[in-house]
Amino acid sequence: MASTQPSRARYTRGQRGLHWLIFAAVLLAYAAINIKGWLPRGDALRVSMIEAHFAAGLAVLLLIGPRLLLRLRRGAPPVTPPVRRELHVVGHITHGLLYLFLIVQPLLGLAAVQLAGHAVWLPFGLSIPAVLGHGDPALAHGIKTIHEDLGDIFYWVIGLHIAAALWHHSFRGDDTLRRML
Ligand code: HEM
Ligand code: HEM
Repeated sequence: MASTQPSRARYTRGQRGLHWLIFAAVLLAYAAINIKGWLPRGDALRVSMIEAHFAAGLAVLLLIGPRLLLRLRRGAPPVTPPVRRELHVVGHITHGLLYLFLIVQPLLGLAAVQLAGHAVWLPFGLSIPAVLGHGDPALAHGIKTIHEDLGDIFYWVIGLHIAAALWHHSFRGDDTLRRML
């Protein structure tokens, strides 16, 4: 017998899974680098926090490929009730910036470490060897500064994104958030 249930438009399972997995990885990357900043030099936990930051950041880089592929192939479900055109454009711009950040930020981090001539340490004694040449400290420093500034700026963009999701859900009463759950 055919179902009489209306089809509830949501992002696909894969898209939802990847959204929340990447969210967790970004949260971990931010948490680890902040905790590292509170610990004294030479503290073993400080080193673990740096390793966790690198690992979480690289996980984002790994997951963003499949996520973008799914987005291109499966699209985004419509919002009910539909949003005004101007709001739709603001959403697109914010999402575009978030995608760009999720690709560029880990690459900048990776380049900063490697150009400083270091291997990227990972948990469990693993590491990614320095493949980006034999070090260019000035360039490494410049890239690290951009990475840090971008990291600070995106607290605001991510905050805006979360506030928008909650606004859609609680004040506008549409299904924007439910589509991602
Ligand atoms: C989405 C992924 C990432 C985010 C959101 C992120 C964010 C940040 C933030 C917020 C800071 C500190 C900024 C400050 O102190 O003002 C930072 C520092 C840093 N990040 Fe990342 N990062 C990411 C990925 C990576 C990756 C993949 C690497 C390297 C493999 C990396 C290497 C570094 C380094 C070396 C620092 C400077 C640490 C220090 O000297 O204090 N990051 N990152
Ligand atoms: C690190 C934090 C986050 C990042 C980087 C992030 C990134 C993104 C990106 C890139 C999209 C665009 C999806 C697409 O259409 O292709 C998206 C959609 C969405 N995100 Fe997040 N997100 C984060 C956290 C959150 C949180 C905490 C919430 C909930 C409170 C949330 C709720 C949503 C919702 C509801 C959508 C669908 C928006 C729409 O289709 O108009 N996100 N997110």
